[in-house]
Amino acid sequence: MRVDGKTVLITGSTDGVGRRVAVRLGEMGARVLLHGRDRARGEAVVSDIRASGNDKVSFYQADLSALAEVRGLADRVHSAHARLDILINNAGIGSAGAHGQRQASADGHELRFAVNYLAGFLLTHLLLPTLRASAPARIVNVASAGQHPIDFDDVMLTRGYSGGRAYTQSKLAQIMMTFDLAGELDGTGVTVTCLHPATYMDTTMVRQAGTTPISTVEEGADAILNLAISADLEGRTGLYFNRQREARADAQAYNADARRQLRELSMRLTGLDADTPSSAR
Ligand SMILES: NC(=O)c1ccc[n+]([C@@H]2O[C@H](COP(=O)([O-])OP(=O)(O)OC[C@H]3O[C@@H](n4cnc5c(N)ncnc54)[C@H](OP(=O)(O)O)[C@@H]3O)[C@@H](O)[C@H]2O)c1
Repeated sequence: MRVDGKTVLITGSTDGVGRRVAVRLGEMGARVLLHGRDRARGEAVVSDIRASGNDKVSFYQADLSALAEVRGLADRVHSAHARLDILINNAGIGSAGAHGQRQASADGHELRFAVNYLAGFLLTHLLLPTLRASAPARIVNVASAGQHPIDFDDVMLTRGYSGGRAYTQSKLAQIMMTFDLAGELDGTGVTVTCLHPATYMDTTMVRQAGTTPISTVEEGADAILNLAISADLEGRTGLYFNRQREARADAQAYNADARRQLRELSMRLTGLDADTPSSAR
C-alpha cells in the first residue's frame, strides 16, 4: 500500500517499536501523528522525521493513564484531521515496575488494564467516525503472545496481583477487542487486526524487566507495518498474528460471551455507554 497521502496515528511513538514504526512511515511519506506522554521525547521524533524530508508530522501529548486525557487526545486529532487512515494502538507498559505492587490509574483502574487496553478501547471508539469516513482504513492493536484469561470476578486484580498477570491480561483484552470490533465494523471498510510483534525486543520495557532481548526492534516494526500497510492484508480483519504469521490467540478470545462481558465493562468504565444513545448500541 502507498502511504503518501495517508494519515497515521501511532500511540506510544516516543520510544521502542512505536518510535521505529513512526519513523519508517515518516520516511515513506505518510502524515505521521506521533503520541506520547513526554513532549521532549516526542519533539525528538518529530525532528527525526523532519530530517528525512517529511514535514507532515505532529506530536500529541497525552498520558493514557487518565481517560480524560484519552478523550482530549481524540478531540485534538479529530479537530485537526479530517481523515485518519491507520490507527496503531501501540502504547503500553510492561510487567515490571513499582516493586511488583499493584498500581492504579487516575480513574482508579488497575494500571496495565487501563493504559494497555482501556485507553486504546476508548481512543479507537472516539476515532471511529473519522476512520469510517476514511475507509478503507486500518486499526492495528499491538498485543502480545503473553496472554492471561480475564477473571470477570476480579478484572482489577485486587487479589493475587502480579505485574506479569496484569500485563498479559491487558494484552488478551486487546485481542478480544480486536475480534469484537472486527465484527462490528464488518462491511464498513475499516479492518482491525492485532499481533505479537516480536519476542523480547530490545526496548525500554524489556530492559526494565531485566530480560535479555532476543529480537530487534526492526523485526517488531516489520511485523506491525505488515498489518498496517501490506497489500496482502487489504480487507482482512479480525485476525491475530504472531509476528508475520496468522496465529491462534488464547481460547478466551474466541468466547463470544467473554467478549461481550469485556465490551460491556469497557463501555461502562470509559463512559462510552453514557455517550451512546441506547437505540444505537
Ligand atoms: N518489547 C517486546 O518485546 C514486546 C513484545 C510483545 C509486545 N510488545 C508490545 O509492544 C508495544 C510497544 O512496546 P515497546 O517494547 O516498544 O515499549 P517501550 O519502548 O517501553 O515504549 C512504550 C511506549 O508507550 C508509551 N507509554 C507508556 N505508558 C504510557 C502512558 N501512560 N501514556 C502514554 N504513553 C505511554 C511510552 O512513552 P514514554 O516514552 O513516555 O515512556 C513509549 O512511547 C507495547 O504495547 C508492548 O506491550 C512488546
